[in-house]
Amino acid sequence: MSVLPPIEEKSTYVEQMFANIAPGYDRMNRLLTFGMDQTWREITVAAVAPPACGYALDVGCGTGDFVTELAAWTPDGKAVGIDYTIPMMQAGHTKIAPLQHRATFVGGDALQLPFPDETFDTITTGFVMRNVVDIQQAFAEMWRVARPRGMVACLEVARPNNALLRFGHRMYFERVVPILAGLVGADTTAYTYLPQSARQFPTPDILAHIMQEAGWQDVSYRLLGLGAVALHIARKDTV
Ligand SMILES: C[S@@+](CC[C@H](N)C(=O)[O-])C[C@H]1O[C@@H](n2cnc3c(N)ncnc32)[C@H](O)[C@@H]1O
Repeated sequence: MSVLPPIEEKSTYVEQMFANIAPGYDRMNRLLTFGMDQTWREITVAAVAPPACGYALDVGCGTGDFVTELAAWTPDGKAVGIDYTIPMMQAGHTKIAPLQHRATFVGGDALQLPFPDETFDTITTGFVMRNVVDIQQAFAEMWRVARPRGMVACLEVARPNNALLRFGHRMYFERVVPILAGLVGADTTAYTYLPQSARQFPTPDILAHIMQEAGWQDVSYRLLGLGAVALHIARKDTV
């Protein structure tokens, strides 16, 4: 049975869903990815190598795992995370508190970023784009707030190309994940939304095209986790 909301309700649905699962979000991430999610974030940030004195943004920051990684790369700069689900950022507050002025959370919408044009050297977004109502608009906003020559990295779920792996992946996400979520007392509807939203998400090739349409150049991607996730990177080239 589909738990996907109609498009006009998607934004409210997603926000409420993440507010509900916020306290256990990190634990479930580690469990469901066998601890690989943090490695994928490290690879993602390394792929765009934020400058030490740079200004970095993570869109849909959730509990802040990308923000802490960005802050590690920008000791003389600043890392900002933005999310419209306040309880997610509250759940991750203790991660960024020790970083003081070097990292901050901001409440706001990825489709209407509350930052001036050409603010950030580096932008990341992870496991967010399948939740937004308009992917191209989100990338257009990231392009707007990126500085010339600024980089973007997007980490999202994908489906393995190999038929056997794709079958195993589908069984895991569609059958095992909701059961695991129930066993550890997490919201099973939320963890049914996860595989269903992933199935509807554009393929890596189509996502690359969407990024180009939004203004990004030199778009490329690679698959991680045996094809379970795709890492796209691109540059803002204004000439
Ligand atoms: C699966 S979580 C990913 C969190 C984090 N990026 C990570 O790697 O763990 C998706 C996050 O995107 C946020 N989100 C979804 N749509 C958004 C939007 N339009 N504006 C801001 N945040 C959004 C949700 O609130 C949620 O915190």
